[in-house]
Amino acid sequence: MKQRDLHIRGLSKVFETSEGPVHAVRDVNLEISGDEFFSLLGPSGCGKTTTLRMIAGLETVTAGTIDFAGRNLARLASAERNLGMVFQSYALFPHMSVFENAAYGLRLRKVGQRQLADRVHQLLDALGLEGLHMRYPSDLSGGQQQRVSIARALAYDPDMFLLDEPLANLDAKLRVQMREEIRRIQKDLGVLALYVTHDQEEAMSVSDRIGVFKLGRLMQVASPTEVYRHPASLFVADFIGKINFFPGDVLNADRAGASVRLRSGGMIEVGRFERLDADERIEFGIDRDSVVAVRPEHIRLTPTSGEDAAGLTGTVRRILFLGSIVRYFVACEDATKEVMVETADPPADVTEGERVRLDVRREHALCFRS
Ligand SMILES: Nc1ncnc2c1ncn2[C@@H]1O[C@H](COP(=O)(O)OP(=O)(O)O)[C@@H](O)[C@H]1O
Ligand SMILES: [Mg+2]
Repeated sequence: MKQRDLHIRGLSKVFETSEGPVHAVRDVNLEISGDEFFSLLGPSGCGKTTTLRMIAGLETVTAGTIDFAGRNLARLASAERNLGMVFQSYALFPHMSVFENAAYGLRLRKVGQRQLADRVHQLLDALGLEGLHMRYPSDLSGGQQQRVSIARALAYDPDMFLLDEPLANLDAKLRVQMREEIRRIQKDLGVLALYVTHDQEEAMSVSDRIGVFKLGRLMQVASPTEVYRHPASLFVADFIGKINFFPGDVLNADRAGASVRLRSGGMIEVGRFERLDADERIEFGIDRDSVVAVRPEHIRLTPTSGEDAAGLTGTVRRILFLGSIVRYFVACEDATKEVMVETADPPADVTEGERVRLDVRREHALCFRS
């Protein structure tokens, strides 16, 4: 294990409640390197905050171990872990100035006056808060408050930076700006960042790697590109970006791929297989042994008379002009839902109500197989 790596093994959390036990986190295993920007991503209630709080020492661990820099964190009190935390609520002290809020951790650690002032001024300036040092949180905008909470978390050079949905209360434009800033600070400091979010675009844009959670379980750990291109389950495929599902039966499978026969009898060529989970098959309404998953930007539409119907065909229901792209919804009996197609280069001859052929290149057809 390297110097500042985080190593989580068999981590579980069960809350005992009046309605019985709640399994918030189930057997999570993770290795994160000391300079990585790592996001915990998943829908609300899937255990992200609980995982982060166990690492921070704010929540007890039901089972498993958390080692950081070769030390078992369970043996350290929360204050000894030297972690910088940023929450969705900012949690600034309302009766303290911006300066005092940012200086809080340094005062706790009894850092000398001179050094403290230098450090706080430097950080506040770096975060674009110069001139606001004497203000109180109530006189700041949401974005400024958030930056103060980041300054407070960074002031004492934490060994690890933990952020729990830190941008959730900001408007869309500021969110994009702040996430870039957080990423830049993290890379400048070279400190491990664990970033909790339910926003897949946010996770994709800032992370080195992403851990995708579902109901307390870690479903996949990979780079943003990898989870998008090679999702390991239907849940991940569906949660990250948009995707269309075509149930079918695998024929003539060999090392190079296979043909999949769809409901209508039409065929689709696939080049890659993942395992199809039995529960997910039911959850996603897959009425065959297998399912072919295709991203909207990987389907090409061409008008068809209906006679060349060997492959996939459908009827265009709706065309949405979205500026940089055009989105089509196509009714297709082979798919579990209306098929979504996106292109930056819309064919002029495809209109609403038109019969179309849907073409997919083999390398863009992911096959999940029982
Ligand atoms: N203190 C608690 N007592 C009981 N159940 C809790 C507590 N904290 C969280 N939970 C439950 O644990 C699950 C995971 O919660 P959480 O970690 O907050 O999810 P997320 O941050 O992904 O939205 C949820 O079902 C939630 O209701
Ligand atoms: Mg949460």
